[in-house]
Amino acid sequence: MEKNDIKKKELVHETVLLKETVDGLNLKKGDTVFDGTLGGGGHSAYVAEKFGTAVKIIAVDRDSEALQRAEERLKSLKANYSLVLSDYRNIDKALDAVKVEKVQGIILDLGLSSNQLDESGRGFSFKNNEPLYMTFAAPDDKLLLTAKIILNQWAEETLADIIYGYGDERYARRIAKKIIEYRKVKPVEMTWELVDIIGGAVPAVYKRGKIHFATKTFQAIRMAVNDELGALKDGLEKGIKKLSTGGRMSVISFHSGEDRIVKNFFRDLAKEKKVILINKKPIIASEQEIRKNPRARSAKLRIIEKNNKQMSNQKDKRINNCEPLKKWFWSFIMVLIICLFSYGYCVRTAIVNIVERQNMESELSTLDSKVQILEAEYFKAKNSVTPELAQTMGFVSATDQKFVARDNKDSGLSFLTPGN
Ligand SMILES: C[S@@+](CC[C@H](N)C(=O)[O-])C[C@H]1O[C@@H](n2cnc3c(N)ncnc32)[C@H](O)[C@@H]1O
Repeated sequence: MEKNDIKKKELVHETVLLKETVDGLNLKKGDTVFDGTLGGGGHSAYVAEKFGTAVKIIAVDRDSEALQRAEERLKSLKANYSLVLSDYRNIDKALDAVKVEKVQGIILDLGLSSNQLDESGRGFSFKNNEPLYMTFAAPDDKLLLTAKIILNQWAEETLADIIYGYGDERYARRIAKKIIEYRKVKPVEMTWELVDIIGGAVPAVYKRGKIHFATKTFQAIRMAVNDELGALKDGLEKGIKKLSTGGRMSVISFHSGEDRIVKNFFRDLAKEKKVILINKKPIIASEQEIRKNPRARSAKLRIIEKNNKQMSNQKDKRINNCEPLKKWFWSFIMVLIICLFSYGYCVRTAIVNIVERQNMESELSTLDSKVQILEAEYFKAKNSVTPELAQTMGFVSATDQKFVARDNKDSGLSFLTPGN
């Protein structure tokens, strides 16, 4: 590709979470910010628009074409900047090169730019049939690892692990097997060859899915070519050392593996009180931004501030002062819960007692009326029997007024019979 072509390009990378990332750094006049992923220069340009020359920008990118393009943009603004062709994992060396010891802000906007995806001709996208380089750095370096090398020289097991690990591709083993079969006949060289190989490995139903069936494999190979997760781990570790006390770091990730590294790194430092998490949950793009730029959908922004002893002591004090209050609050809540339960139990018992009493009273009144009926029956029966029959039935004396209840088993009725 001719370098002059760059000027003709119209496409401008749409920066994700622009204000959230830069405003979250809390920069002040006199500060220096390190943009580790310059790309289209969107974040750096916003710093320049906001602070003019009052904030110094040191920006790096592995891609010389990106540096060239971004410089055109920054040149047109009133900005104080130094651009260095470098990997952000070498932040220490890049800062040494411009004689800067510490910075007050660091920006990492991971992954690749729209320019690289659509126009670089390096095989990032399968929309065009391009050679399979997939390198962030321009592929004129003969020592550079490329997608071609990985696809044609790496072992089947390693390919499968990469495609599964970096791409979350469930058909990773089948795809790796097909790549090996293919390269026995000829080397895999172009993007459309790789798309055909993947298409031959995955089931037909998978090809009708929402995302293109080759997307995950392409992403995985790109991440392996550029050692993106390795660069991120190094960049975070070295970056925190190069951040001055009270300085902030904003990191935007687009992949779950990347976000996990950032989250765990920040969390561990926060536990050691070396940083403060500015946002506990990642900041994500608004619906409006996603509508304008669908790439923003998977973006997660995490920001930390490098801690200083004074601040952490103050925070500790604040926490310690709150401790007794917290204990009182929870004790109060516990007592309240116990009281409510006891009250509820008493009310329930009282209601049960009232209901039982009413039931008993109604049963008693039923029994009373039965007794009256039986008494009436008894007197009727007694008046209608002869003395002989009364004798046979067991009535001892018609004048005896003392009765006891006894079951008359023959008639099945309960009679009142005279006792002794
Ligand atoms: C998403 S773009 C950045 C876009 C930029 N923030 C903007 O607003 O225009 C990512 C850029 O980071 C670069 N990059 C990725 N990994 C890198 C690394 N390890 N070191 C330096 N640059 C890297 C890529 O070449 C790409 O240009």
